[in-house]
Amino acid sequence: MAVLSVLKMGDPLLALKSSPVTDFDDQDLHRVIEDMIETMRFYHGVGLAAPQIGVSKQIIVLEVAQNDRYPKAENIELEVLINPNITNLSQQEELEWEGCLSLPGLRGQVLRSSNISYEAFNQTGAIQKKTVSGFHARILQHEMDHLNGILYPQRLADPQKFGFEDSLPEFL
Ligand code: NI
Repeated sequence: MAVLSVLKMGDPLLALKSSPVTDFDDQDLHRVIEDMIETMRFYHGVGLAAPQIGVSKQIIVLEVAQNDRYPKAENIELEVLINPNITNLSQQEELEWEGCLSLPGLRGQVLRSSNISYEAFNQTGAIQKKTVSGFHARILQHEMDHLNGILYPQRLADPQKFGFEDSLPEFL
């Protein structure tokens, strides 16, 4: 296992649409997943998508465990999502602050669906289906965007509600 460096906004690899995983017996796949989990935890992220470590594959990891970057967030058990697909986005939306390990120190307000359903394979190739809400739904939508080459500044509700967390009044 290894902590990898996270690509930052501006890197063309972050703008690519990633391709589905086809071989679940591939040792490289399992190494990438382990490295993603270690990297996410090391940088105190709540989610990480494979393109952020330069792997253009549809792989997401997410976990919330007493995260100091999101102190008010409920804990979420580790999830490994391969070839994820959102099957339902609620009409109801909520506006909240987001951050991203590819934009260190920055936060921006993004409108996301409050409730979503999704299905994905896990690392053994088994299908999993879930319906989640709130912050969990937000992380999923943010990470799905990474798989499509989209970073959250492209989704800002208001360009004024974007900046460095050590300067935004909302974070002081
Ligand atoms: Ni991100």
